[in-house]
This record gives sequence, C-alpha cells and structure tokens, in this order.
Amino acid sequence: MKKLLFLGACAAVLAMSANAGVDKGQKLYLKACKSCHGNGVKGAAMNTQAGWDKAFANGAKTLIDKHQKDPKAAPYFNGAFKGHAGDLHDFLKEYGSDSGNVPACG
Ligand code: HEC
Repeated sequence: MKKLLFLGACAAVLAMSANAGVDKGQKLYLKACKSCHGNGVKGAAMNTQAGWDKAFANGAKTLIDKHQKDPKAAPYFNGAFKGHAGDLHDFLKEYGSDSGNVPACG
C-alpha cells in the first residue's frame, strides 16, 4: 500500500512538471547514463547549470569528446545521443548542482 502511494505521488509530480523536455530527458538519462553515473540526482550534480550549458554547447562537443575513450559509451554518444541531447540538456540543467531542484523519481 505504501509503495502504491509513493508511485502515485511520483507520477503526479512528473505530470506537473512544466517542461516536457525535462521529463523526456530524465527518462533518457535513466536509460543511457545511469549505469555509469548513478541516479539522476547524482548525474545532474556533475555540473552547475552553467556547466551543463557548456557541456552541451557546439552540439555537445565536450560531452561527446569525454566519452570517446569508453568503448561502452562511445557508440551511444556517436549515434542516438545526438537526437537526445536537447532533452538531456533540459533535464540535467534543471537539476544542476546549483539549481536547488531535486528530481522526484530518481
Ligand atoms: C559506459 C559508461 C558511461 C556512460 C553510459 C556515460 N558515461 Fe559519462 N563518463 C564516463 C566516463 C568513463 C567518464 C570520464 C571521462 C574522463 O574522466 O575524462 C565520463 C565523463 C562524463 C562527464 C564529465 C565529468 C567530468 O568531471 O569531466 C559528464 C558530464 C558525463 N560523463 C555525462 C554523461 C551523460 C549525460 C551520459 C548519458 C547521456 C553519460 N555520461 C553516459 C562513462 C560513461
């Protein structure tokens, strides 16, 4: 019962979020980044909000470069990532280390 209540609250918070890109970006983060960088709170805290703007500048060049040496991460960063970068940017910036925001569902 407790678990059901928790899930309900979590869905409600997600539904209330004003920015669809943030929600999409969170789902993408959990699929593509969590295995190496931990949950969304931890991942977003890797950078300040301005830091995320820099990481995603110039077609996310910095971020893509950082992952070229990792054989597990490189294929994603050279492929599907490019279509996901906008939403990931929205999510990570929304919860950047200096944002004061905390993602509701991990
Ligand atoms: C297969 C593992 C793997 C995946 C998946 C992965 N990363 Fe990384 N990431 C790394 C490694 C390894 C480094 C360290 C590179 C270095 O130190 O230069 C890194 C570095 C970073 C950095 C830079 C940290 C710093 O201090 O410079 C950021 C930001 C980052 N990753 C974000 C992401 C995001 C966002 C995703 C998902 C879109 C992601 N990573 C997916 C392995 C991964």
